Amino acid sequence: MATAVFPGSFDPVTLGHMDLVKRVSGMFDKLIIGILTNSSKEPLCTVKERILILEELTKDMPGVEVMSFDGLLVDFVDKTRADVIIRGIRNSIDFEYELPLAQANYKLNSKADTLFLATLPEHSYISSSAVKELIRYKSDISAFVPDIVYKFIMQKFNYIN
Ligand code: PNS
Repeated sequence: MATAVFPGSFDPVTLGHMDLVKRVSGMFDKLIIGILTNSSKEPLCTVKERILILEELTKDMPGVEVMSFDGLLVDFVDKTRADVIIRGIRNSIDFEYELPLAQANYKLNSKADTLFLATLPEHSYISSSAVKELIRYKSDISAFVPDIVYKFIMQKFNYIN
């Protein structure tokens, strides 16, 4: 049984993330979405909120599981007995950032091979950091995130757009 891990902060989940989840879930028997809990980034949503949102978004996708992890990704790969790590690549900047991480992860654990998936061009400008910034200015994020996330953010941060 082939298992993939899609790790990230998912803070918040974007349309780009969900496109990758949909595409990758069809390629593997099991896809584990791994939410990093000990990120150095200032969180927008709690890990619990992110888990609930991702569980709701993937409830009709067989074989998709949502988990959180802290520490090293290679240890999470070991723990879940995953065969591969999935990372989305939007542009050359992503590639330059992701390549040494993938190489270091492989060096640390040769079972932690990384598969890069090109995002769709229509999602290539979307990032959780940009969405976070828009929320800070109470701007419209509806074109960047799934409906559930949009509604959740509107409620949590008490603004309507
Ligand atoms: O969505 P993000 O924030 O781009 O995801 C980054 C993530 C979680 C994949 C990355 O920060 C990570 O793997 N963190 C865990 C710590 C780790 O293993 N670092 C790599 C050392 S070589």
